[in-house]
Amino acid sequence: MDADGVTSQWFNPDVPNVARIYDCLLGGKDHYPADLAAAAKIAEAAPEVVQRVRENREFLGRVVRILATEGIRQFIDIGTGLPTQENVHQVARRVTPAARVAYVDNDPVVVVHAQALLATDEDTIAIAGDMCEPAAILRQVTEQGFIDLTQPVAILMLAVLHFIPDTAQAAQIVATFREQIAAGSYMVITHATAGDMSEGDLAQAVQTYAASSAGSITPRSHDQIEAFFDGLELEVPGVVPVAHWRPLSPEPVLAERATIEFSRLRSGKATPTVTDGPVFLGGVARNTSSRR
Ligand SMILES: C[S@@+](CC[C@H](N)C(=O)[O-])C[C@H]1O[C@@H](n2cnc3c(N)ncnc32)[C@H](O)[C@@H]1O
Repeated sequence: MDADGVTSQWFNPDVPNVARIYDCLLGGKDHYPADLAAAAKIAEAAPEVVQRVRENREFLGRVVRILATEGIRQFIDIGTGLPTQENVHQVARRVTPAARVAYVDNDPVVVVHAQALLATDEDTIAIAGDMCEPAAILRQVTEQGFIDLTQPVAILMLAVLHFIPDTAQAAQIVATFREQIAAGSYMVITHATAGDMSEGDLAQAVQTYAASSAGSITPRSHDQIEAFFDGLELEVPGVVPVAHWRPLSPEPVLAERATIEFSRLRSGKATPTVTDGPVFLGGVARNTSSRR
């Protein structure tokens, strides 16, 4: 740890950092040249990724609004990422002004940003936590009654489980959360799939993440991702490309076309459809069991 309590591993601007790469892909400003270079390498292998991250954020907005409308008042956002637009509490509060949101990330730099920009009132907290220790996360967020696990809660794990290489471990993490949440709670997951990427392009993207702060990325199949929801009741339409999950218009609206420089790496192809290249699959499932 440094004198200020934050591990220097997270501050190294020369090592691409997954939160900052994601910020780059979203067109944000919180990144360094090494992050931009990594994002460009990923976008070179999979130009659609720029579109995919926007679809992922739009999915987050739709789901949080729907769950808040369904009466969910508590949200735990695991793998929060750097603050961007339409963060969970901002969406939820438009429906439920008193919604409580716990932001959790294992990157202390993300947590510092979230504490400064997101946790600005008593109903929002931002804490350091590793999803590999789900019980510890639940202990922290329930401290002093911030989150009440006897009441329904939404656990959001968006674009984060693919950083766990071991599928059984990823499933165990989700199961630990599932076993601790009250009936009427929801689990929301999005996850990368390789889609129709060529072996060479996939290898380039995977190698780029291997050299990042996360150490790896593990795209999974539809069936593997669907299995994370075992023991829960999947909401319609199931596990689908995130842009197909209850789109706001009859045809899935693709997120605004990327404006950042490396999106120009695209050659020849028109704007991707929601199933070209790598795809984020997403689903929302309800806990119907009242074991707690
Ligand atoms: C790609 S961003 C996703 C941000 C946001 N969830 C979204 O979908 O827009 C992934 C985030 O997960 C965090 N992360 C990666 N591994 C994690 C872990 N083991 N525990 C908690 N957070 C993790 C990263 O630091 C990063 O902020």
